[in-house]
Amino acid sequence: MHNRDTFTQSLLAASIKKGMTVLDLGCGTGDVTFLAADLVGETGSVLGLDISQPMLDMAEERLTQTGQTNISFQKLDLEQLDQLDRTFDLILARRVLMYLPGPAQTLSLAKQRLKEGGLMVFQESDALGRQLNPDFPQHSRAIDLIWRTVAAEGGDIEVGSKLYTLLKEQGMEILSYQSENVLQTQESGSDLAWVLDMMQDRIIKHQIASKEDLEEIRSALPSELAQSKKAFIRDTAFGIIARK
Ligand SMILES: C[S@@+](CC[C@H](N)C(=O)[O-])C[C@H]1O[C@@H](n2cnc3c(N)ncnc32)[C@H](O)[C@@H]1O
Repeated sequence: MHNRDTFTQSLLAASIKKGMTVLDLGCGTGDVTFLAADLVGETGSVLGLDISQPMLDMAEERLTQTGQTNISFQKLDLEQLDQLDRTFDLILARRVLMYLPGPAQTLSLAKQRLKEGGLMVFQESDALGRQLNPDFPQHSRAIDLIWRTVAAEGGDIEVGSKLYTLLKEQGMEILSYQSENVLQTQESGSDLAWVLDMMQDRIIKHQIASKEDLEEIRSALPSELAQSKKAFIRDTAFGIIARK
């Protein structure tokens, strides 16, 4: 069954070779950093950067548990990428560009940290799939609330379909650009109730929905999925690979 890393793994498998030096922008708790480290092997290395110390603490904790020597983490705001004094064979990010106030500026700095012929690999989601589920009114309501909250926080919820233009404007050569719909079924279940729980305070703070609305949606989700004969289109992921 599909999991949230399947699309990422195919992007990384198509771009990362053994021995590469890789930079993971906005690594969070290191999910993608660890995937990349498996592919570069012991002769390569991966550096994960994030602005959030709690995220980095969790990433470091995982690193201690695995004992891997080809991974390191560093606290850095991506707007200050010029402070890094190394260059890399490949620079990647997953679900990060959408949160940046100026993705073009960050990409320009990242390009300066990329070796000649080096690759950029980005995965972003995009809210364009919101209208794709007319048979799932409550799931659609939930998805819509989530995207509107991210937008209210300043996130670019259409960055997935802008990746091509963003990288072209940096003078990068686009090698591949793909999107994939992530499906949820009765068998896989839906993670939307969990996401609504996680985001509840933010949704209420931005007055996107009330606590009562959220409870109503949450309680309707399981039966809506159980009664449907269709798959629910949960997310549209975009992936791009480009060369300097
Ligand atoms: C949705 S998470 C994605 C984490 C990871 N890339 C993944 O796919 O599992 C976004 C991450 O971007 C980080 N981030 C956002 N703005 C940043 C900035 N200006 N500098 C560094 N990291 C940033 C956040 O702290 C967070 O860990």
